[in-house]
Amino acid sequence: MNSKIAGTGYYVPKNIVTNSDLMQYMDTTDEWIQERTGIQERRYAKKHEETTTTMACEAAKKAIADAGIDKEDIDFIVFATLSPDYYFPGCGVLLQRELGITNTGIGAIDIRNQCSGFIYAVSVADKFIKTGTYKNVLVVGAEMHSMGLDFSTRGRGVSVIFGDGAGAVVMQSEEDETKGVLTTHLHSDGSFAEELALISPGCHGGYHDEDSEKYGFVPEDIPGEILVTQAMLDNHLFYPYMNGQLVFKNAIIRFKEVIMEALQATQLEKNDIDMLIPHQANLRISQYIQKTMGLSDDKVFNNIHKYGNTTAASIPIALAEACEQGKIKKGDLVCLAAFGSGFTWGSTLIRW
Ligand code: UT7
Repeated sequence: MNSKIAGTGYYVPKNIVTNSDLMQYMDTTDEWIQERTGIQERRYAKKHEETTTTMACEAAKKAIADAGIDKEDIDFIVFATLSPDYYFPGCGVLLQRELGITNTGIGAIDIRNQCSGFIYAVSVADKFIKTGTYKNVLVVGAEMHSMGLDFSTRGRGVSVIFGDGAGAVVMQSEEDETKGVLTTHLHSDGSFAEELALISPGCHGGYHDEDSEKYGFVPEDIPGEILVTQAMLDNHLFYPYMNGQLVFKNAIIRFKEVIMEALQATQLEKNDIDMLIPHQANLRISQYIQKTMGLSDDKVFNNIHKYGNTTAASIPIALAEACEQGKIKKGDLVCLAAFGSGFTWGSTLIRW
């Protein structure tokens, strides 16, 4: 038994935010953002009305319709996000409720692997299907970054990159082993954990940081008070941090490495790839991979100019758009690959 992607769907909020729009909040320019990232605009969800879960629900409904099944046929949910509605419970159960299928009692799991989240999620679904446990798994990547970015000049190196949106696929069992998900490869290196991270709130209590005083913890004899402190707010520690250049340098190495690993595992060649969908981290990263892999323009799909970096949502949004535009045909070899916070990275090859 193999697994295949039977349906795709995506949702992006209506609100378009251009690079020029960001100039009213921070010292930046359209030229800087386009030159360094290729991003022209991104979408921001409507506060108080849209959440990571509601966007995921819209994408999921489309994927379910595209797969030609009913929502009640879904027998497991895998939800990848770094920007969940709640600290806990995860978005998986919220999506089950939003879809109106709590009566099914199906399992729902959240994946916390940031930019690689969707690849990890596909891999989890693939294994459940291959072992015969589930038949129709809903796999979602969704993010609402706009809720918690630093829109001052202090945060410009991070905030201009990220956007909101959701993508979903329905994965199903496939009897023909030459079709569907041929291979998945997952990796991590936790020595870089803080190089792209949102450290607080958390239970770390300064354990991983030599400069733990900035978190402002109360004395040891008073219980609690480490998850959230006033000092965290005062020191702006609730915003994501990224060592951009280090991430960039590692990304271009790992992307190629993990794509080659997938090709070697299936005894396929670079030229066999019909469509590469890299995580939309930065157009310069995608272009670098394309060049070093020797792939022509029609074999690499990018949409970062429209949506920015939507982390776990970027691959499923791009995949659904590529399908919508007729860029993926039956029999094509599709490669998905990602690198990001953790560091984590991964790839999968799918015979469409
Ligand atoms: O999806 C998760 C994985 N993430 C990634 O893959 C992102 C990888 N990294 C990158 O894409 C790039 O490192 C960035 C696009 C984030 C940054 O580009 P960079 O070329 O590495 O710029 P930098 O951070 O080295 O900053 C260069 C200069 C600095 O000014 P000084 O110190 O040279 O005077 C920054 O303060 O650009 C400045 N800068 C900005 N200027 C205008 C940083 N952000 C901005 C901005 N607008 N938004």
